[in-house]
Amino acid sequence: MSTNSNEEKVLVIDDEPFAREFFRKLLEKTVAHIHTVDSGVEGMQALQQASYSLVILDIRLPDANGIDILKQIREMNPLMPVIMITAYGTVEDAVRAMRLGAFDFLMKPFEETGKVLITIKNAIYQGQLEKENLSLRQQIKTEGLFPQIIGRSAGMKRVFEFIKKASEVESNVLIQGESGTGKELVARAIHSNSGRKKYGFLTVNCGALPESLLESTLFGYERGAFTGATKTTKGYFEEADGGTLFLDEIGEASSSLQIRLLRALQEREVVRVGGTKSYPMDVRMIMATNKDLKEEVVKRRFRKDLFYRINVIKIDLPLLKDRRDDIALLTDHFVENYCSRMNKGKKTFDPKALQVLMNHDWPGNVRELQNVIERIVALHGADVITEIDIQEHLTILRSDEECDFMDLSYEKAKEIFERKYLENLLRKFSRNFEDASHFAQVHPATLYRKLKQHALSK
Ligand SMILES: Nc1ncnc2c1ncn2[C@@H]1O[C@H](COP(=O)(O)OP(=O)(O)OP(=O)(O)O)[C@@H](O)[C@H]1O
Ligand SMILES: [Mg+2]
Repeated sequence: MSTNSNEEKVLVIDDEPFAREFFRKLLEKTVAHIHTVDSGVEGMQALQQASYSLVILDIRLPDANGIDILKQIREMNPLMPVIMITAYGTVEDAVRAMRLGAFDFLMKPFEETGKVLITIKNAIYQGQLEKENLSLRQQIKTEGLFPQIIGRSAGMKRVFEFIKKASEVESNVLIQGESGTGKELVARAIHSNSGRKKYGFLTVNCGALPESLLESTLFGYERGAFTGATKTTKGYFEEADGGTLFLDEIGEASSSLQIRLLRALQEREVVRVGGTKSYPMDVRMIMATNKDLKEEVVKRRFRKDLFYRINVIKIDLPLLKDRRDDIALLTDHFVENYCSRMNKGKKTFDPKALQVLMNHDWPGNVRELQNVIERIVALHGADVITEIDIQEHLTILRSDEECDFMDLSYEKAKEIFERKYLENLLRKFSRNFEDASHFAQVHPATLYRKLKQHALSK
């Protein structure tokens, strides 16, 4: 980590003299300037008067609640990294602070000073990266660079800027967004705009394979490593050599896989399952999740050290309902696409029909919109699609409503049944993929595809 600590300025807001002294001592040799204050008001004043690289903020202050001060800091300067200090802190306090954008939290009495120092350095480094991103954002014109990704909303413009930046460097990327928001599409765009575009783009879904299969898929295995391992086989880390490896649903990785991944990312080499020799890897890593990984870290379900490794460039994909401006554009795009794929004449949506699409909440995001348009194009003969045609398709998605299958067409009844069946399956097995596929006697890959089709996948 190349943090030029000597130029950094750290503000400590804590009323406890011991804590202020602790940070002063700790940072004395690394950070030239440390400024300490003992109240929220003084802290806010200090922030208005000088610029800092990091704020270390006590959650309990004599004149204010640290969480409120955190909010004020975020409003004043959203890029400022803030580390919270909590003494009697509950996990809830910490989770709230993390949700509000705190970089991390430290528990009093402080853990080993070494660890505290690393947290501080990481926070400063993260702040620098974000500042760099911002200045790049101001320089870059991204329009037209990624024709396959549709969107003109402010949220998507931000995404384009991050894709551009991520394509130019080799850093690990974490893409966060709910189901169907375009995570894989963005990962592919980064790869195909990067220097690695001539090499492979491989994807592995950490939520879709049983743990042991996942490890051997990623790392490969030596002959005899387990029953059925008849010949030594390379894993995706080796297969993707020179290219990009996309690890989807990284939040589902088991703790043993997390350790293996951390080692691979740190050492830039992999050891095959059942082997001892390590092989160098030259792979660019992009990871995606629909979970809030930061929160998973707080809840100790995801390793903090791995999180920091992969969270170098973070791209947050907005929900479709938070960028309704893009719905009309996406609709045109999908209609054109499916009409030409299905050899149908050009179809249009009348204004009221379009309004219905724009008002819908799209829990399955772009994938759900895409599926609805595909169905409409496939099933409607008329050139103009009306509000009524659309309503019919949107009700399919509200499958909690009771309906009489016998009154529906075969296709529609089948679709509603399938969705209900899958939803029930997910509930019954608490989203445990392996058990669900075993119970339903459906191949995991088929089940996975079906869940995707219905925008139900995790
Ligand atoms: N901005 C976009 N422009 C055009 N197509 C999009 C856009 N976003 C998503 N799509 C399309 O929607 C579908 C879902 O996208 P993708 O598979 O990338 O989502 P995801 O976030 O990976 O979903 P999941 O979490 O379910 O895996 C794909 O067919 C993709 O091409
Ligand atoms: Mg995906």
